[in-house]
Amino acid sequence: MKMFLTTAVAASLSILSIVPISLAVPAPIRRFKLGVRQTQVSAQGTTWTLSDKYEGQNFFDGWDFFKDDDPTHGFVQYQPEDVAKSQSLAVVGEDGVVTLSVDDKSTPPQGTTVSDDNPYKRSAVRITTKKRYNGGLFIANFSMMPDGCSTWPAYWYVHRAQIGRLLASTLNHRLCPLTHPTVHPTGELDILEGVNGQGSNKLSAHTGPTCSLQVNPSDILGTPPATMPQSCDHQPGCGVSDTTPSSFGSAFNKAGGGILVHRWTSQKIEVWHFKHEDAPQDIANGAPNPDGWGKPQFMLGGDQCEIPKNFVDNSLIINTSLCGDWAGGAWADSTCNKKPDGTPLTCAEAVADPKMFTDAKWKINFIHVYQSGDSQVQANGGNPSLATTTSSTASSTVAQDLASDPTPGSSPSLQSNGDDGAPSSSG
Ligand SMILES: *[C@@H]1O[C@H](CO)[C@@H](O)[C@H](O)[C@H]1NC(C)=O
Ligand SMILES: *[C@@H]1O[C@H](CO)[C@@H](O)[C@H](O)[C@H]1NC(C)=O
Repeated sequence: MKMFLTTAVAASLSILSIVPISLAVPAPIRRFKLGVRQTQVSAQGTTWTLSDKYEGQNFFDGWDFFKDDDPTHGFVQYQPEDVAKSQSLAVVGEDGVVTLSVDDKSTPPQGTTVSDDNPYKRSAVRITTKKRYNGGLFIANFSMMPDGCSTWPAYWYVHRAQIGRLLASTLNHRLCPLTHPTVHPTGELDILEGVNGQGSNKLSAHTGPTCSLQVNPSDILGTPPATMPQSCDHQPGCGVSDTTPSSFGSAFNKAGGGILVHRWTSQKIEVWHFKHEDAPQDIANGAPNPDGWGKPQFMLGGDQCEIPKNFVDNSLIINTSLCGDWAGGAWADSTCNKKPDGTPLTCAEAVADPKMFTDAKWKINFIHVYQSGDSQVQANGGNPSLATTTSSTASSTVAQDLASDPTPGSSPSLQSNGDDGAPSSSG
């Protein structure tokens, strides 16, 4: 995640269990030659087929709960699944809506004086899809995102190894050269992220050094960087701001949430944000066709960023941290840093007050993952290494996380072709 970004979406997720289609028979990975346009697939001709439904009562089956210290130094204690469920921090409602909450009841032990050096760590949830993806169309339908001072919510994706214990603290956003020396660097895309409930969503990418953002401003709705190409390398990465008034925080929640879609092909990654009332009908109909949706907020790809080299085996993640590198770092400049009487309030003091967290919730109607019609399926064969998928330049594979998934081996991966084009801006 990016330190200067501001956005986050709320909601909790639920998975209605993986659709059997994703369990298709293994087949060879299709390999692309980078830079060769896949002329046999036209943009209009791409059909997207539902492969994974994260929603409803089975929502959590598709996710792992992260339970280590927050790699970004938040005043948060991520809880394992059993605790998160028993404390009602991870809940699927009768209506099927999934809620991920920050604890809004506990207080520090009597007599504790909290400070940024001696914080109280509040319970929260961070979940990661068991599956890893190398492409697809991802539709997240949220009705709420965590809002409020000290919160740092994020809906994003990255290579799982970067999330983990080994590397996150030192190599956050970098590849995983230590554990997988032969693997390409793999990037992170922040789809909805921000801090302290303020500002607008900033969609950003963090990759290795070979990827830059270069887009024709008239091709996207988001506000691009003033100077391009903008390197996506590590921090601060590259990105655009979604200046839609309801893109983040309380404004997002006032709008009843929203739909965040990303389409990830071998050619480019695009992100759309819709208010519920503006969402394309074909999404609700289960037959999404992004080619008919108009301009995305964000677009990355083309000559400036070879997507298959920069985004590999990524899992979706939803987390809410408190303070930490970004929310804590931005505290002094936010309107959160004073009590009602005007005296200073530290981020740690805010975290110690449970009343601050009544709106620190994700409410997730669903996250649906589609693969394109010409997808081929690839089994990861129980091999915990990443070699299968990363040794090719294939565009769009979905691989189950076999490395750290507690229930590995049941799902093969899908690969889909890209759509037709590179960003018109690449050049
Ligand atoms: C988003 O979820 C809500 C609640 O389930 C539903 O009414 C709405 O149709 C969904 N929107 C889309 C575009 O699927
Ligand atoms: C979520 O985890 C990632 C990876 O460690 C980190 O970069 C990000 O800051 C975390 N964000 C939140 C909101 O916990």
